[in-house]
Amino acid sequence: MPLPKAELHLHIEGTLEPDLAFALAARNGVTLPYADTEELRRAYSFSDLQSFLDLYYALMAVLRTEQDFADLADAYLARAAEQGVRHAEIFFDPQAHTARGVPLGVVVEGLGRALDRSEERYGVSTRLIMCFLRDESADSALETFEAARPWFGTRITGVGLDSAEVGHPPAKFREVYRLAADAGLHRVAHAGEEGPAGYITEALDVLGVERIDHGLRCLEDPDLVDRLVREQVPLTLCPLSNVRLRCIDTLADHPLPAMLAAGLLVTVNSDDPAYFGGYADDNLRAVEEALKLDREELRLLAANSFRASFLDEERRAALLAEVAAYEFEPGAA
Ligand code: ADE
Ligand code: ZN
Repeated sequence: MPLPKAELHLHIEGTLEPDLAFALAARNGVTLPYADTEELRRAYSFSDLQSFLDLYYALMAVLRTEQDFADLADAYLARAAEQGVRHAEIFFDPQAHTARGVPLGVVVEGLGRALDRSEERYGVSTRLIMCFLRDESADSALETFEAARPWFGTRITGVGLDSAEVGHPPAKFREVYRLAADAGLHRVAHAGEEGPAGYITEALDVLGVERIDHGLRCLEDPDLVDRLVREQVPLTLCPLSNVRLRCIDTLADHPLPAMLAAGLLVTVNSDDPAYFGGYADDNLRAVEEALKLDREELRLLAANSFRASFLDEERRAALLAEVAAYEFEPGAA
């Protein structure tokens, strides 16, 4: 049994595996510009964030019905459970679907159908976080926010910010984040993946976020690092993603050990596992090996994932106790 953990940075659309993409394409009469799954997999070679996003948005064409979204989420939750994930806070990109003519209700109710059964079926508790596409307008984000109101506090518990980062600073979304705070929603944002450290500061100060997704580039600003340590702002790192999108050269260069040593509250996550080569435990094992992490560092990362989550205190305490009591297999780590 893998180490119990929470997944806090996971785009549900990024869990669309080639097999499922082709099955949904056939079911919906959508023609993909790839002959088969092998040819599709060969397209998974990215030079930067945008080159990935181009394929990520294109493949969403196969997602059309509530059942498609339910199947996508159910397949993810089954895999997550195998990877020791006990709690998942799941992002989705409403605008990427409504722009294609798929109603928001189809997306939210479809995902919700799978999430409703997750604890019972897989032992995985869940939250749903809707992300605004930062390369779309602030007005589009506001429109999406208002359309999603019927699900606030029930299906949808938070807002996030993703897509192409550079040139789209957090402050562009000041208004919608203020409304999200008024509505009692949690707030997170991608910052410092490809964008500068200043975007992290802006996300904290202008958007009032509780966590930073990625946050890798905080290391360029020592005062910011001091602040993140002092305030224990969680950073949801995604190591395999960072290598695939060329934010870092190799996993051995990942600053995770330095970040842990500095006292940053870092967690390890999978971002878009179908595209980047691994789910939550795959990411943990990859950094364990490349960065020679010891058992206590792995245990700390797992505990951090629950500390940084939006879980209620009772389940958080129970899962932290499981992490503390976890016995590594002999020979492992
Ligand atoms: N959307 C899906 N994955 C993303 C990432 N790694 N960065 C920004 N937006 C995304
Ligand atoms: Zn992401």
